[in-house]
Amino acid sequence: MSRAKPQTYYLRSFGCQMNDHDAEHIAGLLEEMGLAREESPEKAELLVYNTCSIREKADTRLAGHLGEAARIKKKDGSRLVVVAGCLAQSRREELLRDFPVVDVLVGPQSLHELTDLLERRRLTGRPAGAFQEDTTCWSADLPRARAEGPLAWVQITAGCDNFCSYCIVPYVRGRETSRAAADILAEVERLAREGVREIMFLGQNVNSYGTQPDFAGKETFAGLLHGACGVAGIERIRFMTSHPKDVSEALIELLGARNQICEHLHLPVQSGSDSVLEAMRRGYDRQGYLNLVRRLRRAVPGLALTTDLIVGFPGETEADFEDTLSLVEACGFDGAFTFIYSPRAQTEAARLPGRVDPEVARTRLQRLVDLVQRQGRERNEALLGEVVEVLVERRSRHAAGEVMGRTRSYKPVNFPSSARPGALVAVELLEATSTSFRGREAG
Ligand code: SAH
Ligand code: SF4
Ligand code: F3S
Repeated sequence: MSRAKPQTYYLRSFGCQMNDHDAEHIAGLLEEMGLAREESPEKAELLVYNTCSIREKADTRLAGHLGEAARIKKKDGSRLVVVAGCLAQSRREELLRDFPVVDVLVGPQSLHELTDLLERRRLTGRPAGAFQEDTTCWSADLPRARAEGPLAWVQITAGCDNFCSYCIVPYVRGRETSRAAADILAEVERLAREGVREIMFLGQNVNSYGTQPDFAGKETFAGLLHGACGVAGIERIRFMTSHPKDVSEALIELLGARNQICEHLHLPVQSGSDSVLEAMRRGYDRQGYLNLVRRLRRAVPGLALTTDLIVGFPGETEADFEDTLSLVEACGFDGAFTFIYSPRAQTEAARLPGRVDPEVARTRLQRLVDLVQRQGRERNEALLGEVVEVLVERRSRHAAGEVMGRTRSYKPVNFPSSARPGALVAVELLEATSTSFRGREAG
């Protein structure tokens, strides 16, 4: 059953920055095939959902979107539906069995096959799929349609070997692999020539860059950062995510020493309780994390620290949860992503006893969110009156004559200005919420 090639596509991406970055390459591939982007699914001939499977909610959300796709396809049977990303990898059988609306399934390590899969679907009339387990072809080498602007992501590792007991990522993103340093730096140079001023290195655990036994190069993560600091035009460098067990002395030194490297670390702690951390298989304990934070704060004045926290892990008692609250108090986080534990079928924790009552977990989450927000607001209010460096990202979506940019600590600031995206502006901070600021250009 051959059919006409689609001319337009709609793309929606869920999940982490790595997935959003993959979406740039999905868009790049489709645009290279001659498809033009549509912002509404109703108008597009090809619908792409780039999915996440980190928590249960992500699965139910996709079911909703596929319902929408099915309604659209009912009106016009020539539409094609692609499910890409982590859920395509983890739930491929169910997706093929329960969702006849799906034409193509493509896992995150198989994006380079997307063009062929679409062609196969077109020629055979049957659903097509590809699910390579590990990264052998880097998405970074595929065409890319990047949103315009002075910020860009650069992938440095793929996969994860940590197998935290709750986490599905190692099962869907495969073994941890490091990209060649020369390729990474060549990409940074290319981006700088295109006008990019700030890069964010991406990996599930950036600190373990270059440590895999089969890595051909000799570079370390700190060495890579050092190399990127030398690229003309790059004013700011960030990275995400750091694993507390792998933060090296060399990295701490660089954070304090190099002007281009922003004083912000996203350092997921997950819990403040030793027994929960052990059951999570995080590879550090409460004291180890607190010591690391102390060393970081000593070496990096003004460091902004953010984290991820899970409540309701199997067996978590009230005392365990209070250990999390007290750790959050002690660390003085600038912000945190907070989650209720969600069992994922493949993982070790899904088989642990001691399920926490959902109502108890929700109450704990609320207490934690209240603390995180109070702490964030207090930390931000303490900065009012200061003049800080802001990199302008774009014109404000809410107020004419205003721009939005970020501090070196990655906090958004809105202020009246005619500065262009990419400009570095000195801004006086005037008002604060728990996560953002309003300011004015300093005279
Ligand atoms: N590689 C990163 C982040 C991975 S996923 C790291 O190691 O920190 C982002 C966050 O989702 C995790 O830090 C964790 O807080 C949360 N998460 C992962 N699996 C989860 C699960 N099963 N239930 C609830 N939250 C989860
Ligand atoms: Fe998941 Fe742990 Fe790997 Fe992060 S380090 S992706 S939480 S297994
Ligand atoms: Fe990211 Fe979700 Fe996959 S958090 S790695 S898109 S499971």
